[in-house]
This record gives sequence, C-alpha cells and structure tokens, in this order.
Amino acid sequence: MASAFKLLFAVSLFTLLLRFCSGSIVGVCYGRNADDLPTPDKVVELIKLHNIKYVRIYDSNIQVLKAFANTGVELMVAVPNSDLLAFSQFQSNADSWLKNSILPYYPAAKITYITVGLEVTESPDNASALVVPAMHNVLAALKKAGLHKRIKVSSTHSLGVLSRSFPPSAGAFNSSHASFLKPMLEFLAENQSPFMIDLYPYYAYRDSPKKVSLDYALFESSSEVIDPNTGLLYTNMFDAQIDALYFALMALNFKTIKVMVTETGWPSKGSPKEKGATPDNAQTYNTNLIRHVLNDTGTPAKPGEELDVYIFSLFNENRKPGLESERNWGLFYPDKTSIYNLDFTGKGVLDMTNSTDGSKNGTTWCIASSKASEADLQNAIDWACGPGNVDCSAIQPSQPCFEPDNLVSHASFAFNSYYQQNGASDVACSFGGKGVKVDKDPSKSIPIISCLSELFLTMFRLTMQQAYSICLKSDHNLLTS
Ligand SMILES: *[C@@H]1O[C@H](CO)[C@@H](O)[C@H](O)[C@H]1NC(C)=O
Ligand SMILES: *[C@@H]1O[C@H](CO)[C@@H](O)[C@H](O)[C@H]1NC(C)=O
Ligand SMILES: *[C@@H]1O[C@H](CO)[C@@H](O)[C@H](O)[C@H]1NC(C)=O
Ligand SMILES: *[C@@H]1O[C@H](CO)[C@@H](O)[C@H](O)[C@H]1NC(C)=O
Ligand SMILES: *[C@@H]1O[C@H](CO)[C@@H](O)[C@H](O)[C@H]1NC(C)=O
Repeated sequence: MASAFKLLFAVSLFTLLLRFCSGSIVGVCYGRNADDLPTPDKVVELIKLHNIKYVRIYDSNIQVLKAFANTGVELMVAVPNSDLLAFSQFQSNADSWLKNSILPYYPAAKITYITVGLEVTESPDNASALVVPAMHNVLAALKKAGLHKRIKVSSTHSLGVLSRSFPPSAGAFNSSHASFLKPMLEFLAENQSPFMIDLYPYYAYRDSPKKVSLDYALFESSSEVIDPNTGLLYTNMFDAQIDALYFALMALNFKTIKVMVTETGWPSKGSPKEKGATPDNAQTYNTNLIRHVLNDTGTPAKPGEELDVYIFSLFNENRKPGLESERNWGLFYPDKTSIYNLDFTGKGVLDMTNSTDGSKNGTTWCIASSKASEADLQNAIDWACGPGNVDCSAIQPSQPCFEPDNLVSHASFAFNSYYQQNGASDVACSFGGKGVKVDKDPSKSIPIISCLSELFLTMFRLTMQQAYSICLKSDHNLLTS
C-alpha cells in the first residue's frame, strides 16, 4: 500500500514536473549597465538564493561566465552590436571568440543560447545589415565545435520590427526591414531557433494612457478587447503583442517559428510624468506575468503554447540614459535587497502577508474533512465544480491532480479553490461543515493533497521564488521517491 501510494505520488509529481518544468520557463535578465553592482560571484549567490534557473546576460564577460560555473543555471549569452561588423566579416572572428571566450567556460557555465545582435532595428548604425551574416558565422563556429545542437543562435528584437500590432491579427513586419528579416526568419526556421522579442506593455500604457488601460497592461482587466477579424478576446496587452508577432510570422508563412520573450517587466519608479511606474504596479505585472506564463495558458491565438519569458531586470542600473524609469527596472537594489516584495523568503510556501497588491493574505487553506461521508463529499464536489464555478479540470482522469484518486483529495482541491476564489472567508470554507480551515500548508502534513498546494500556487498568487521551488520540489521528490 505504502509503495503503491508512493508510486502514485511520484506519478502525479512527474506530471507536474512535465507541466511546469519542461513547460514554459521564467528567467531573469542580468544587465550590468551600472557602477554600483555586486561582483558577479555575489550576484550568483543572490540568484541561487532565489532559485532563479535561467539568466540572460548581454555579453560574454569572463568573470560572469566563471561565476556561473557549476551552478546549473542556464545562460543566454550575447554578441553585442559593436561586434557585429567583425563577426559578419570574417568567420575566423566568430571562431576565435567561441574558442577563447566561450569554450574554456563551457559546459561548466551552462550556455544554451547565443543572441547575436540586440534590437538591431533600433540601432542607429548599420547593425541590421550585419546581423544575419554574423549569426551564420556564429552557427558555423558552433558546428565546428559540435555544439550547434546544444546552443541555439538567435537575435533579439523590439516590437518596432512590426509596423502594425493592433488588432493582433493584422500584425505585420515593417517592410523596410524585409532585407534582413527574410533571411533571418529563414535562418530561425531552418535551425529551430526562436524569434526573440522584447515586449513592454509598460511603454504602450505610458505613451497612450487614454487608449491603453492600466488594468489591461497589468493583466488585471475584467473586460476584454476583441479582435474584429478573428473574434479572439484579449484580456491583457502582453498576449495581444505576442499574437501580433505570431500573425506577422504566419503572414510570411513562417508557421513553425516559436516566440520567446527575452525581456519584459515593469519599472518601480519613474519621472513625475511616469505615473504608472510604481513598486505596486511592478509587483502586480511581474506576479501576474509569472502566473500566466507558468500555467502554460498560451495566448488566444496559440492556446496552451509554451512561452519562455525573461524578466527585465535583476538590478536597477544607474548608468542607463533616458527617463528616470530606465534606471528602475530592477527586482533588486545594488545592495541585493528587494525593491518590492516578490516574497523571496526561500520558504517555498505561500506567504503573502506582505502583499501590497490588494490580494487577501493567502496563508490559510480549506480542505475536506476526512470524517465526511462519501456522499457528502461527492455532493460538495459537484456543487463547487458546478454552481461554485471552480475549474476542476485538474482533478479529472489523467490530469495533474487526479492522483491520488479519492474523494477527500478531490474535494480538498475543489474546496480550497472555491475558498481562495471567494476571499478566503470562513463562510467560503463551510461546505455544510465538511470544510476544514488550516493555516499550515496542508501538503506538508497530508502529502496526498500536495497537488492542492502545487496547483494552488499556480492558480492564485504565485511568486517567482515559489514558482521555481515547484520545479525543485518535484525534482527532489522524483529523485527520492
Ligand atoms: C549597410 O550595409 C549594407 C550591406 O552591407 C550596405 O549595402 C550599405 O551601404 C550599408 N549602409 C551604411 C550606411 O553603411
Ligand atoms: C518602418 O521602418 C522605417 C525604418 O526604420 C521607419 O522609418 C518607419 O516609420 C516604420 N514604419 C512603421 C509603420 O512603423
Ligand atoms: C513583512 O512583514 C513583516 C511583519 O509585518 C515585516 O517585519 C517585514 O519587514 C515585512 N517585509 C517586507 C519586505 O515588507
Ligand atoms: C489576514 O490579514 C488580516 C488583516 O491583516 C488578519 O486579521 C488575518 O488574521 C490574516 N489572516 C491570516 C490567516 O493570517
Ligand atoms: C490556467 O490555465 C487554464 C487552462 O489551461 C485556464 O482555464 C486558467 O484560467 C489559467 N489560470 C490562470 C491563472 O491563468
């Protein structure tokens, strides 16, 4: 019995592992345009402390690569625009960069992507003409080293590559970029590399606050924007921007290229005119973003599609030019303290007591009484999953919370979902006396309902640290069960 139970437990964790950990990922950009940041070694300590598993950097700095050695953190490194000329002109330049700047630190530093060129359409020099030849040369260098299957080559873009992004179905690339975009898209399709985009609903809101509501930009909207051509409904700008890109790719018949978001985020501070740049809005955007992405919700045009996203940025960067907000995109101050509470407590359980986004403190759970009769539990499940409006798809056969297949755990899932959705008030946990309020994470004491808190985290207030800990916990349990 015990071992059968363990097996079920492992199977359900394995499903979760597949769902969360081989699914969409959330990483963080580690920009270093500042003169007051901690040393790379200290930064890596911070990254490990918060269980961040994916990091994007903007060059191939040796100190940084060394610091990430043997951490298991997956790294995206970059060839900056200033190197595009050299890399595009001579294969030997790409070869010797790989040999001298990458190979000595690989695979200890787990590099998985090389971005060649950064937002070249925004670059005042001739970077866009150089980027594709440089990408080819970097790929050729990787091929010679036998690494082209392990390290993917791509290039990042701003949304400025599109001439239209609304409605999403009318998304189209700016034809004045056609000369480099067409060969780039061919390169990406041929090598199964993603199209990398930096997306900022913040700017859309800042620049047209009359047209774009703050709620829509922050994933908090209760109304929907309809795409008149497709009838698709959008509840947030992030999805609309991604779909605009998918439609632009489809219009050119590139149907297999995946989209990856190499930067997105929200500044916590801005100039007096940038009223949207506050810690609360930054926290709301990033919390909702993580929840949205790790749920593998996909977008209206690509439901269920995995999406990898990097949050910009790890630190505030004091040397960035421009408006005040430019220097305030960080999750951390240079002294490594958090700017707003993304609950990096390392506890890995829900703790929103410091939440400033108006959400209820989610430190209580509602589970089913083990003393209730089967008939009562079944009735309560039917009610919660029907009139109670709980999404009970996760406890259906072959779904992540089906196992263990018994009424108490299914009812606990349904009760807790209902309870959290309805303000975690006492009355929302009554279920005719069959609901029991607990203030300890129930997965700790009652392992059979671990799925409850796993899914609960994703469906409600999920913080980055917690999201990563799901993967870690699953990994750990798989290894030890
Ligand atoms: C940019 O590069 C293209 C292709 O190499 C070249 O034809 C063009 O003259 C360059 N333009 C400038 C302004 O350097
Ligand atoms: C397309 O790109 C060109 C060159 O960068 C720019 O001048 C033009 O404004 C863009 N068109 C649109 C519609 O964004
Ligand atoms: C969280 O709340 C506790 C207790 O109210 C307080 O001591 C602590 O400083 C808060 N932490 C943050 C990051 O606001
Ligand atoms: C939630 O917060 C309220 C007020 O801040 C407090 O009275 C209540 O006890 C908290 N609930 C839990 C379960 O911590
Ligand atoms: C999670 O995904 C499901 C469908 O897969 C969707 O119905 C649900 O609303 C999503 N939850 C959140 C919080 O996005």
